[in-house]
Amino acid sequence: MSRVFSGIQPTGEPHIGNYFGAMRNYVRLGEQYGKQSLYCVVDLHAITNPAASDPRYLAARTFDMAVANFAVGLDPSQVTFFVQSHVPEHQELAWIFTCLTPVGELERMTQYKDKTAQLESVPAGLLMYPALMAADILLYKAGVVPVGEDQTQHIELTREIARKFNHHFGETFPEPQAVYNKEALRIPGVDGHGKMSKSKGETSTLGILEPLDSVWQKLRVAPTDPARVRRTDPGNPDVCLIFDYHKLFSDLPTIELVNVECRRAGIGCVDCKKKLMEGVTAHLTPIQERAEELRADPSYVRDALAQGAQEARAIAAPVMEEVREKVGFLKV
Ligand code: TYM
Repeated sequence: MSRVFSGIQPTGEPHIGNYFGAMRNYVRLGEQYGKQSLYCVVDLHAITNPAASDPRYLAARTFDMAVANFAVGLDPSQVTFFVQSHVPEHQELAWIFTCLTPVGELERMTQYKDKTAQLESVPAGLLMYPALMAADILLYKAGVVPVGEDQTQHIELTREIARKFNHHFGETFPEPQAVYNKEALRIPGVDGHGKMSKSKGETSTLGILEPLDSVWQKLRVAPTDPARVRRTDPGNPDVCLIFDYHKLFSDLPTIELVNVECRRAGIGCVDCKKKLMEGVTAHLTPIQERAEELRADPSYVRDALAQGAQEARAIAAPVMEEVREKVGFLKV
């Protein structure tokens, strides 16, 4: 049976892009694959972005990211859930992959180009980021990787690294496949500026654990169809991010209703947003309640993470042993 692996960075609050794009698939695949599905809070990746990994907050954000994943339904007793830095084999394998990967291939990653465009000094770790990601996945010989569409290029490179390793050192790794949620490939930010992203900060994101009045404040001022100036103008839901969100949060009759009524100016944007907020509230309230319970019981979360790291290491150690031997390191 193949394994599942995915990772999520503790660089900020998990948002509805993470949730619909990836975390819901973690839960679905977790139910299918049990302990053979591995999910990881990737703190080593987080420190490639110095602005987002202030040491005062990194541990708390890592903890909170675990809480969020448990709150949406990942059960740590059923799946393998852990923190990346607790399993040092990730770094060891990443180094070997770094030595197999041409700098040019790393430089052409679009996420690398986007991130470095905003930096004066580029940490080498940012360039190596995809090699560490390949190590995360291949350390468990995972074949299935639930992610959002923005990770496609990284998964492609992971496949290439697997092929290269197999070619040089003998058949070892499978070529993993990305699994997407077709309805949530790239959820737009609530500010209307491209993809929702933790690194763009709070104006872009709707956090799954964010207080609902704060979610409403953001939705209230969120841009809609720019061509709809007056309440009496007909709108076009196809260019409206509120309609995109309706498709995630609302039931089919509501989606159909706002689709029809918007086009004939039968519903105003504020009322449309209020309807959306009903779906958001129904969806997020139980998740937020569960998160509160988990926060009130930190030792449960810590014990689950300690146990998860042990389970992950039990899979990683023999794979790393095989890799060391194939690469040719001296064994004493
Ligand atoms: P990260 O932490 O940025 O995001 C976590 C997951 O959420 C997805 N995602 C989205 N999906 C749809 N719409 C959006 N607006 C949106 N924003 C984020 C991401 O695609 C991701 O699946 N490099 C990874 C972390 C990582 C990883 C791995 C993933 C490290 N090692 C190994 C898979 C396998 C990242 O930065 O995710």
